[in-house]
Amino acid sequence: MDGNGRWATQRGLPRTAGHIEGAKAVRATVETAARADVTTLTLYAFSSANWARPPAEIAALMRLFGQYLFTETRRCVEQSIRINVIGRRDRLSENLLRSIEQSERSSAAGSGMLLRIAVDYSSQHSIVQAARRAGPDADLTTEAFHRLLHEVDHCAYPTSEVDLLIRTGNERRLSDFLLWECAFAELHFSDCLWPDFDDQRFRCALEDYGGRQRRYGGLAADTR
Ligand code: FPP
Repeated sequence: MDGNGRWATQRGLPRTAGHIEGAKAVRATVETAARADVTTLTLYAFSSANWARPPAEIAALMRLFGQYLFTETRRCVEQSIRINVIGRRDRLSENLLRSIEQSERSSAAGSGMLLRIAVDYSSQHSIVQAARRAGPDADLTTEAFHRLLHEVDHCAYPTSEVDLLIRTGNERRLSDFLLWECAFAELHFSDCLWPDFDDQRFRCALEDYGGRQRRYGGLAADTR
């Protein structure tokens, strides 16, 4: 969800104003994704590397996450959306942890889309933790490692690999996001700044994905 800062700067506003506008785009995107029958939507809200930002910006983001969970959980429950926050939990405030647990608990019975919000998330950190948990298990399989990653990341529900990764803000990096799960992900890069990411742009990304030929290293059906 890149581009909140630039969106605000272009308007002579503080970066936090961009994050507030970004949260509105989050609301709209969750609704579009649910309507488009997306099974799992994962939002990269705060990477572990983001702790390097100024304390005031970090505090504003943490406040926004708490507010989002407070105001949106009921809406998610009404739409049968399950909420799950993934990432480290040992560095979040008690208040935010309580909000996360409450949102996860109250939306757990939903049968619709899974909304995963990545906060203090680092794929490299998760992979190292999962490897430690695995220990010297010579029979470790890809599936078993995937399950260990789920445990480390506090994934409350099993998910498969990422099908489509959308990155906004004219950036072309993975930035330590779901590196294991993105093994065969299709990538869609958008120049649009996150607060401007709307229904139409999301559908355009889905359409782009729909036109991709996923071969997983094999051959296309018509060349076999
Ligand atoms: C990265 O780009 C964006 C973030 C670190 C924050 C993302 C947060 C939100 C979209 C708001 C709230 C989220 C939820 C889940 C309620 P940047 O904005 O720092 O981009 P830039 O400086 O490159 O423009």
